Amino acid sequence: MMELVRDVATLRGRLAPHRRAGERIGLVPTMGALHDGHLSLVRAAAAECDVAVVSVFVNPLQFGPSEDLAAYPRDPDRDRGLLEPLGVAAVFAPLAAEFTPPGRRTTVAVGGLTERLEGASRPGHLEGVTTIVAKLFNAVQPDRAYFGEKDFQQLVVVRAMVRDLDVPVMVVGCPLIRAADGLALSSRNVYLDGAARRHALALPAALRHTAATWDGDAARARDELRSRLAAAPGLLLDYAEVVDPETLDPLEGIVAGPAQALVAARVAAAGRTTRLIDNIRLEPAARTRGDVEP
Ligand code: PAF
Repeated sequence: MMELVRDVATLRGRLAPHRRAGERIGLVPTMGALHDGHLSLVRAAAAECDVAVVSVFVNPLQFGPSEDLAAYPRDPDRDRGLLEPLGVAAVFAPLAAEFTPPGRRTTVAVGGLTERLEGASRPGHLEGVTTIVAKLFNAVQPDRAYFGEKDFQQLVVVRAMVRDLDVPVMVVGCPLIRAADGLALSSRNVYLDGAARRHALALPAALRHTAATWDGDAARARDELRSRLAAAPGLLLDYAEVVDPETLDPLEGIVAGPAQALVAARVAAAGRTTRLIDNIRLEPAARTRGDVEP
């Protein structure tokens, strides 16, 4: 029976017998408005762990003052209905007034990795993420925590935080999940009406092209990605970069190892602007295939 838990003390009490029994605890941190991307993380946690906990918390710390915190989609009953059949032991949905109380003073910030890409466009966003993820790690004390590769920079930053602070958790990155039309699943996709969704599809299309034509020339790939997206109707490009997947350093020249193309853009839809991110791995395999085939 899945339990809804609202506070840290109750959660710890609920998890203590499992921890004493040596059971493996898995955490899937979410902001709710669940979609198949989230559910793939939950399925992985349920398959690999004895106890799966899903946190649902629309984290005010990771929204800028002009962002969509108030309008962010929320549907707790639907979320619980989706989680119940997946073998989730507990949904941890703390109240904002208790989990992020006024007067709190501590921020967890990962330097360097957070000043570019999302960090440059959304100042304070990644610090908001790491602060709340650190609190969730303290509350749940999971053995494993599951994050989607859709938020690629977030995953890299959380891994760095765990490494730097010796947090005893294994961070598991799970593949980005796409809708049938190619759009990366995101809770914000509900904002997209028909025309906006068509415009948004330029993002996965440009990334697919980048991966298909990847020849190791990072600057060429980045420039072509940028010019395709800048020319796409209905999209306002924020960034398009080709980076080292571990350091997130922008790549220049000819690259031998893997690379990651990351994009962010705004789409106008239904009286609002929706910001979308997407990414794709650029593998050297396509280039070397010719070397091994007869
Ligand atoms: O990826 C998200 O949904 C959020 O950034 C997270 C990890 C739940 C932290 O609020």
